[in-house]
Amino acid sequence: MEHIQWDPGKPLRLLDQRRLPWEQVYVACSTHREVASAIKNMVVRGAPAIGAVAAVGMALAAAEFAREEREGAGGPEGEGRALMDVLEEAGRCLKASRPTAVNLAWAVDRMLARAARAREEGEGDTLRLLQEEARAVAAEDLAANRRIGRHGLTLLPAGARILTYCNAGALATAGYGTALGVIRAGHEAGRVRRVYACETRPYLQGARLTAYELCREKIPVTLITDNSAGYIMFNKMIDIVLLGADRITRQGFVANKIGTYTLAVLAREHKIPFFVAAPLSTFDLKAADGRDIPIEEREPREVTRLAGKAIACEEAEVFHPAFDITPPSLITAIITERGIVRDPGEEGILALFAEGRKSCS
Ligand code: MRU
Repeated sequence: MEHIQWDPGKPLRLLDQRRLPWEQVYVACSTHREVASAIKNMVVRGAPAIGAVAAVGMALAAAEFAREEREGAGGPEGEGRALMDVLEEAGRCLKASRPTAVNLAWAVDRMLARAARAREEGEGDTLRLLQEEARAVAAEDLAANRRIGRHGLTLLPAGARILTYCNAGALATAGYGTALGVIRAGHEAGRVRRVYACETRPYLQGARLTAYELCREKIPVTLITDNSAGYIMFNKMIDIVLLGADRITRQGFVANKIGTYTLAVLAREHKIPFFVAAPLSTFDLKAADGRDIPIEEREPREVTRLAGKAIACEEAEVFHPAFDITPPSLITAIITERGIVRDPGEEGILALFAEGRKSCS
């Protein structure tokens, strides 16, 4: 599924996830502001996907700067300095589009660091370097997801019946998916009997996107309402819970789609393993616990309306946090591209990152 299409020098084309599964329509973005708006309005969503798209947004900002320079509308300062100002401003705009998933800020900072290095080392042609970097962000995410799939496979019991939540699939990433990456790998290995996809109110990512992805790949899927999860666990219909993440702190607190915490509490009560699959770009080592994670609150009309139709009194006060925090005590393991952290906590998570530093040195 080519949901993020981009060739340097061309506009970014995003499959409009708001219109799935009914129709496949693309939205074109030629500027970083259009990218920020597409992220804010959920044309594209899912933590690693918005990171990959934000990286392209930064490359588009550099292209906008180059265009203005050619047309003589550039700033009065030195070339490199003015470009950095433009990129920093674009980075702020992109970061403000959605606050919880750290992949977005991570990708923006990576692009800024690349531009700064190019400037310091006089590499020249910063636009081309940023375009290459944006492509690398997406390519690395895809590769990471395939590795997450391979690691996660080792945790699946034979004939696994898996409960998943929201959409942590190809659509939520640069491709293949995190939690759905494990499910894809498990399906290829013949280990998945059935996936139970929670519909995920109010945005219905589970019903509209996860069920869509799984149906397309002929992976057996049963769609359930979110409030069926307890009944399904009580009746021993699932073996594991497996879902993605939007931000993971160094102590192992996981921000994910609102309702994740409820599932984790239910899973603990029913002694069902609870697995989180996420790339390293989803970790925020500066954050210690859940209090360090900003939780996005979205528009009341996402709750009071369904497919554009009012389903509640419009005057009713609405509280609509888009994410919640699950503490590490409820998480059996976190699956990353670098391996599995069991009983996640600060020690295991920092060791995972230290491992990377060792193998890079
Ligand atoms: O609001 P969304 O759709 O961007 O939220 C995405 C999620 O919370 C998903 O559950 C997912 O696990 C994170 S992306 C792989």
